[in-house]
Amino acid sequence: MKPCRVEFPGTDKSPVDLESGANLSEKLTIHNSPILFGCRIGICGTCAVEVVATDGPLPERTFDEAQFLEAMAPGQDSVRLACQIRINTNMKIRKTQV
Ligand code: FES
Repeated sequence: MKPCRVEFPGTDKSPVDLESGANLSEKLTIHNSPILFGCRIGICGTCAVEVVATDGPLPERTFDEAQFLEAMAPGQDSVRLACQIRINTNMKIRKTQV
């Protein structure tokens, strides 16, 4: 599979090319990205990001992610939990608060 490019607009972090199918949080940690992580299971919100997919849709929210974001960021479809995203497209991500 071809790698997916992840960009970090508004930061000085260079884009990274990540393995498609991998967990985003695992790969971003390796690359020392500006996105911080806490629980990594979708319950703390530390990794909340605004995401724009630039080469196809993102995977659907996981059950835990959907429940958390429906409570903490209702109606904000571009907000995701980076720890719950499986990489499948190029994307731009920006830290946000929930
Ligand atoms: S690290 Fe806690 S919700 Fe993602």
